[in-house]
Amino acid sequence: MRFDVVTIFPAMFDAVSEWGISSRALQRGLWQLHRWNPRDYARDAYRSIDDRPYGGGQGMVMLPETLADTLQAIAAAQGEPRAPVIHLTPRGRPLDQAHARHLSGLPALTLLASRYEAVDQRLLDRHVDDEISIGDFIVSGGELPAMLLIDALVRLLPGALNDPRSALEESFSTGLLEGPQYTRPEVFEGAPVPPVLLSGHHARIARWRRDQSLRVTRDRRPDLIARARSEGRLDAADERALSAMASETNTHKTG
Ligand SMILES: C[S@@+](CC[C@H](N)C(=O)[O-])C[C@H]1O[C@@H](n2cnc3c(N)ncnc32)[C@H](O)[C@@H]1O
Repeated sequence: MRFDVVTIFPAMFDAVSEWGISSRALQRGLWQLHRWNPRDYARDAYRSIDDRPYGGGQGMVMLPETLADTLQAIAAAQGEPRAPVIHLTPRGRPLDQAHARHLSGLPALTLLASRYEAVDQRLLDRHVDDEISIGDFIVSGGELPAMLLIDALVRLLPGALNDPRSALEESFSTGLLEGPQYTRPEVFEGAPVPPVLLSGHHARIARWRRDQSLRVTRDRRPDLIARARSEGRLDAADERALSAMASETNTHKTG
């Protein structure tokens, strides 16, 4: 998969190209990263990329022409077909695992990591295909959001993870959050590992893990339980486990 990123801080992307799973996948040739600095396409001697907003107000707005020229250079480098252009912005659709999975199947993406208060709306209307948010909070620039997106997509590429089952079992892949995990020692600060995990009984362990996953999802993200139910992802054993948890809660409340 090919990523072209538009950023005034290209070096920040070393975080995904030089470290961890995404770096290893890059070395394996599973993805490529091309960085484009809009200052290289500035139209004045000061290499300006922003200006004050028409109508007044706080902050600066990114100039449409320099970004359009940068995107045009990227399209020329990509050849046909041009990759979809995604702008990272809090105004975008919040990223989730299903969307990440869809995007990871594409051959190429162009990511616009903007800065300042905004990007001129005409550039967005004419040159951007989609807008993605990483959550309902504000960070200072689009670089970290773009890197989050790259990392989420790259780990889904075949061959990126040493054990591809990891991606299938992780939180959200099943529609639920992952339950707790334990490693050595068997007793830590007086707390033992749940005995079922030491039983060697695979079916019982699988059931216990599923119940733990249901429990943590029910407690922290009940919306995901409702969605899993409406999508037919919960079977009779899951429903029994959830009812048992509900009656535990009721006993606590009334007891
Ligand atoms: C300070 S923010 C601008 C926020 C903008 N004035 C607003 O209220 O929507 C600067 C840049 O950081 C990035 N950014 C900030 N929060 C983000 C989020 N939650 N998701 C994606 N990008 C974000 C965007 O690229 C944005 O253009």
